[in-house]
Amino acid sequence: MDSEETVSGSWLALLLLGAQLTVVGPAAPSSLRDDPWQVYSSAQDPEGRCTCTVVAPQQNMCNRDSRSRQLRHLLDKVQNLSSSIAALDLRTHSELQFVEQMETQLKSVETRFQQVQEGRESNSARQYKWMREKMAELRPLIPVLESYRADAALVRKFKEEALNVSEELASLQEHVHDLSDVHERVQDLELRLKACMNRLACGKLTGISDPVTMKTSGSRFGSWMTDPMAPPGDTRVWYMDGYHNNRFVREYPSLGDFMSSENFTSHRLPHPWSGTGQVVYNGSLFFNKFQSHTIIKFDLKAGVISRSRTLDFAGYNNMYHYSWGGHSDIDLMADEGGLWAIYATHQNAGNIIISQLDPESLSILRSWVTDHPKRSAGESFMICGTLYVTNGYSGGTKVYYAYSTNSSTYEYMDIPLVNKYSHLSMLDYNPRDRALYAWNNGHQVLYNVTLYHIIQ
Ligand SMILES: *[C@@H]1O[C@H](CO)[C@@H](O)[C@H](O)[C@H]1NC(C)=O
Ligand SMILES: *[C@@H]1O[C@H](CO)[C@@H](O)[C@H](O)[C@H]1NC(C)=O
Ligand SMILES: *[C@@H]1O[C@H](CO)[C@@H](O)[C@H](O)[C@H]1NC(C)=O
Ligand SMILES: *[C@@H]1O[C@H](CO)[C@@H](O)[C@H](O)[C@H]1NC(C)=O
Ligand SMILES: *[C@@H]1O[C@H](CO)[C@@H](O)[C@H](O)[C@H]1NC(C)=O
Ligand SMILES: *[C@@H]1O[C@H](CO)[C@@H](O)[C@H](O)[C@H]1NC(C)=O
Repeated sequence: MDSEETVSGSWLALLLLGAQLTVVGPAAPSSLRDDPWQVYSSAQDPEGRCTCTVVAPQQNMCNRDSRSRQLRHLLDKVQNLSSSIAALDLRTHSELQFVEQMETQLKSVETRFQQVQEGRESNSARQYKWMREKMAELRPLIPVLESYRADAALVRKFKEEALNVSEELASLQEHVHDLSDVHERVQDLELRLKACMNRLACGKLTGISDPVTMKTSGSRFGSWMTDPMAPPGDTRVWYMDGYHNNRFVREYPSLGDFMSSENFTSHRLPHPWSGTGQVVYNGSLFFNKFQSHTIIKFDLKAGVISRSRTLDFAGYNNMYHYSWGGHSDIDLMADEGGLWAIYATHQNAGNIIISQLDPESLSILRSWVTDHPKRSAGESFMICGTLYVTNGYSGGTKVYYAYSTNSSTYEYMDIPLVNKYSHLSMLDYNPRDRALYAWNNGHQVLYNVTLYHIIQ
């Protein structure tokens, strides 16, 4: 479909959950010329959706052309909106599976309880203990369950509204003067959908899956990543072996290529990097220039430095590294909220400072001062504006400290992280995949994370 064409010269298909609206053209019968829009047919498709075909007029009068373009734009918008809702629906659906598993657990507790009450179990003391433990495990999930129910209702409501808008679009030919009204409603819908998605997307880390090894390559230390802001279809993997004095970045076309081949393009950076804290964000590589506290933004497409800025007072050259060393003084990362730098300063006694950076200018938007010594942190990563810190890089590892930039408070936690190859030199969250990317002793591994909504 050529996006430059007006409605009258192309096919448009609009799929909107409950309804399907198809605009076809140009209209063949000349009798339609007087009638700007014609509802051609209405039927049910195999999935039970209502299918509606609108015949667009074939003419090139200026006012109609502009109206066509306007409608076309609107249709695009609703189509975008509907695919967002579909994605949201899918996510809610998969998360609801967790909830269902919990309900199964609750039911099994209930059954046990009945068995004990009916005196079928001889050792009831043990049974009671088992139930108490299970109930203690499940209690924190009750507010989560309630939140999911509220979210599901929200998604349902959006579906209804979107359906309504699509119906209005379908009846557009009768009252074209309502176009701006519909336009407003679409915009409103879009805003509310975004707010809803943000709410569903963000949450508190409650679990990390077992690791999956994607590849075994390179030295003990390094970093690898994908761009969370990449447009759909751009699945490139970026790979940086080593923690110092290297300046070659590998680009693999996809995760599949990364796993199965050594087929890559190499980018030579104007300066070597320090540490493993690089991040690829919105088409640029952000890295810490070797032996400095300079952050460089390197445009990967143009192959040039587009910005560079010193991170004032930040320690470098192994002054405030993570516990594994490796010049890991400055760690750059991205989450749902943007770009971040994690580092430490002498002024803050070597404790971690979190700075949100403007990805355009690299200037610091805001900083948070923690009381966690950087050198005793294993690694750290940011999810939904909260920094999670691990207790070490070798042996049994867990996430044990979290600092929320939202509330400027910290808490201790205990989330196990399986450290399969015993030497973690990079750990970063990717908000697009909702996964942790790690470099573990020459193995490139991924973890899934479980996030629960923050209950207000
Ligand atoms: C629909 O989404 C595409 C790709 O994300 C974007 O280029 C386009 O501008 C969007 N259309 C509207 C009307 O928002
Ligand atoms: C759907 O449209 C009808 C009229 O066409 C209106 O009365 C109703 O309030 C709309 N519902 C929503 C959720 O916008
Ligand atoms: C390597 O990549 C090039 C270009 O993307 C492609 O033409 C070639 O077939 C690839 N080779 C292998 C072995 O995958
Ligand atoms: C991403 O890059 C595009 C084009 O370079 C720019 O317009 C957009 O503002 C950037 N987005 C963010 C979040 O930096
Ligand atoms: C942080 O606060 C903002 C507004 O105050 C809110 O929209 C957002 O959901 C909060 N994020 C988390 C993770 O609580
Ligand atoms: C993460 O979850 C997705 C969806 O369930 C799955 O396809 C993928 O293999 C998982 N990845 C890891 C690293 O567990």
